[in-house]
Amino acid sequence: MERRAFLKTTCKLCALGAAGIALPQVITSCGNLQSLSITLPIEKGKISVSISLFEKETIQLIRPKGWMYNIAVLKTIKGFDAVLMKCTHMDNQLHPSFEGFRCNMHGSEFNKEGKVKKGPAEKDLQHFDVVLKEGYVEIVL
Ligand code: FES
Repeated sequence: MERRAFLKTTCKLCALGAAGIALPQVITSCGNLQSLSITLPIEKGKISVSISLFEKETIQLIRPKGWMYNIAVLKTIKGFDAVLMKCTHMDNQLHPSFEGFRCNMHGSEFNKEGKVKKGPAEKDLQHFDVVLKEGYVEIVL
């Protein structure tokens, strides 16, 4: 692909991501993942994510307003899960991968449940309580 066509395509995809449209195939391969997260306000210690966002995708990257890290909200067979995408080795922002999450700093890998698959990280990722409420997934921070 020519450079011009590549830039045109990737800019369109990033614009879709910024508009809140989940693109997991792009997310797993895009180097600038932070631009694809959705920033949401914190209200009474919670953030609310519309369930409609999960009609086509099983993962959404959410950034609570003012936070430095994303939260991966995952639709699973059992319901919903929310995992802080902060590496437990040295606090680097994680990125989603096909099998879970990876850290580009020193190579740690975590599965979709947030358990360490590969070090140097030794601790599993932090989870948040999740409550379903009237069309929304509420994440208790
Ligand atoms: S900060 Fe993630 S592996 Fe070191």
